[in-house]
Amino acid sequence: MSRGTVLLTGGTGFIGSHTCVELLECGYDVVLVDSLVNSSMRVMERITELTARRPAFHSIDLRDEEALDSMFRRHDFDAVVHLAGYKAVGESVEIPLEYYDNNIGGTVTLIRVMRRHNVCRLVFSSSCSIYGKAECMPLDENAAAGPTNPYSRTKWMIEQILSDVCTAEPDWSVTSLRYFNPVGAHESGLLGEVPRGVPNNLMPYVMQVVVGRLPHVNVFGDDYDTVDGTGVRDYIHVVDVAVGHRQALERIHHGSGHTVYNLGTGVGTSVLELIGAAEKACEASIPFEVVGRRSGDVDALVADVTKAQRDLGWDPRRDIDDMCRDSWRFQRRNACGYEE
Ligand code: WQD
Repeated sequence: MSRGTVLLTGGTGFIGSHTCVELLECGYDVVLVDSLVNSSMRVMERITELTARRPAFHSIDLRDEEALDSMFRRHDFDAVVHLAGYKAVGESVEIPLEYYDNNIGGTVTLIRVMRRHNVCRLVFSSSCSIYGKAECMPLDENAAAGPTNPYSRTKWMIEQILSDVCTAEPDWSVTSLRYFNPVGAHESGLLGEVPRGVPNNLMPYVMQVVVGRLPHVNVFGDDYDTVDGTGVRDYIHVVDVAVGHRQALERIHHGSGHTVYNLGTGVGTSVLELIGAAEKACEASIPFEVVGRRSGDVDALVADVTKAQRDLGWDPRRDIDDMCRDSWRFQRRNACGYEE
């Protein structure tokens, strides 16, 4: 007996593929949509290997309203989990219009088509980066927003759009999940993070140093106001993030309006502490060099997750050692990502 049919946009991506497995394993039927700009169809084989199910897949750019509408006519969706979007902070500064067009334009088209087909339950992938530089840690959902780059502004603007839609049309029920730093991989070693080109984010970069694809880690500054001077972030295991999406879906049927939740652990880890945890997991020494700060970075971002724990029953169980161990298992078994 299915718990319902869910459309997963960005479904072949890092968060999307792990969320797909979680939903399938918990009795949902899942349909994936992805433009494949930042992901590979090979993920479908891994999802099938893990779940013995092959979800329907449609290669669609969400801005293509006709294609999206046609796809909605072929399925009877109960809800949408919307993960599709460009997400590289540095790239967003270089090509802001692409980010606004893709992330916001795609979302507006999606909402319009959802409404046309009477689908009004949505879980949205938001980000801790909307908080910008905040004074007191940990951050709860009432903390002031202060996005500092086009990527994080698209996330903040989409949250406002979703609030306005819920105000205008009370039958909508929307949950925005503000991820802190998703890292790690499925314990099977079959799914993980496969960034295009040189990784922007710390964990995949560290893993590529361990396998010898990169010479050393560049530590972006050691003069921050933190435990050891290096940047502190709240790393959250991607499988705990996937569970959070499933629990948000379970709740979304009982409410209306727009609700926002932080997804993190409440624990801050510095760059040097992450490198140390990775050395333990990989049983290897990881070379690094301290260089200048990266523009746009803040000292620390750590989540207060009591709201998600209270309302969703969400309880992240995996710590930084689990994240490093699972990242390393995926990296060493997939040195070239999902390609053979
Ligand atoms: C983490 C820490 C860097 C790389 C971004 C997005 C956020 C989310 C996660 C989507 C920082 C330092 C990094 C490196 C380093 N994305 N670092 N050397 O910037 O916290 O968050 O990714 O949802 O929205 O903003 O993640 O992994 O890039 O950086 O020293 O080669 O590691 O300065 O302190 P970030 P990150």
